[in-house]
Amino acid sequence: MALTDKNILLCVTGSIACYKSVDLYRSLKKEGANVKIIVSASAEKFISSYIFESFGEDVFRDDAFKSPLSHIALSKFADIILIAPATFNTINKFAAGIADTLITLAVSASPDKPKVLAPAMNPNMYANKILKDNLDKLRKYNFYTVSPETGNAACGDSGEGRFPEIEDIVFDVESIFKEKTLKGKHVLVTAGAMREYLDPVRFISNGSSGKMGISLAEEAAKRGAEVTLIALNIMAARKYINRRIKIINRTGFKDFKDALLSEFKRCDILFMAAAVSDYGFKEKSPVKIKKICGSAAGTVLGVELVQNEDLLKAVSEIKKEGQTVFGFAAETNSLIENGRKKLAEKSLDYIFINDVSKGIVGGNENEGFLITKAGEIKRFERESKSELAAKLISGLSL
Ligand code: CTP
Repeated sequence: MALTDKNILLCVTGSIACYKSVDLYRSLKKEGANVKIIVSASAEKFISSYIFESFGEDVFRDDAFKSPLSHIALSKFADIILIAPATFNTINKFAAGIADTLITLAVSASPDKPKVLAPAMNPNMYANKILKDNLDKLRKYNFYTVSPETGNAACGDSGEGRFPEIEDIVFDVESIFKEKTLKGKHVLVTAGAMREYLDPVRFISNGSSGKMGISLAEEAAKRGAEVTLIALNIMAARKYINRRIKIINRTGFKDFKDALLSEFKRCDILFMAAAVSDYGFKEKSPVKIKKICGSAAGTVLGVELVQNEDLLKAVSEIKKEGQTVFGFAAETNSLIENGRKKLAEKSLDYIFINDVSKGIVGGNENEGFLITKAGEIKRFERESKSELAAKLISGLSL
């Protein structure tokens, strides 16, 4: 859980998107955060603060005079102050240094704490230069903005200003706690299972979901990298991938290879988590292959497979000074021996050996061994793919 033991002060201000703050609260809790909540007087008109109380939380209504020092106590509690939704009025008040409500008081008492704004307002209000200037100003004072969504607003207008996706807000909050060890780096990740087609409807593939690669891409983005993900058929893995990650969707060997070789040139680190097909069909039919007329069950259809090029080997051959290549291995036996062999044959800097005999393919957890070029071996016990990704990336020596 990425937010374990982190204290978040969630400030809900009065927008029609207020009801989404309840889902946001639940997502923060799911990631292990301790949450205290302030509900502004205007927000209270849209939702009842009792919703949060019914989850057993400390909720502070926006009455600064009821408990005169609560803004100081709340500021001391917070590792991060998250204002979601953040209205036009509240953002401009922060920029002007106004402190006339419990939320603006708590924020003004926290100059050194990171403050995350998740704006929600009409597109014309979001485009207003007064707001834009104030957001620019606030960026200098430890404020971060989660970019709002573009789409139809409640009033019927269309444009940028909709409350951001909850996953984007949680992602940005988690990013704040990460050391920016990959700032200035370009990280290329490949993920998912290749499909090699026999005809327009049939293909061979494997059970790789792409989850390990997605976790690596997200961890790299949280650590400040520019990230490109070459994704092989990962639609089922996750409905959401953070929008800071550039996704290039590919299906089969040839289109994947073209994307990999072109993107590899400008990357600093490659994580090759994709399950590349070792074989493709020798003959591919442009039309659906029909059953042999009159044939009975048990009739054998012979197809020939041709071995594909090893792409990791190919990129290692064009690798330049300063580039890091991190490979993966799917093994069922002799893990270390097979891993060492692949590390050497493919000239890798690192290899992570997945023990696929243990039912990890397609799941949310992983375990295995990391071997480095220098020959160090490290065992990783079973844990979530995102926790493993965080450990693998923080252990890189760049
Ligand atoms: N890989 C690749 N090109 C291939 C096959 C694999 O680039 N044609 C990459 C995978 O993305 C992975 C690594 O090589 O990072 C190891 O893949 P794996 O399937 O474990 O092993 P193979 O090299 O294919 O060898 P084998 O199937 O014989 O174990």
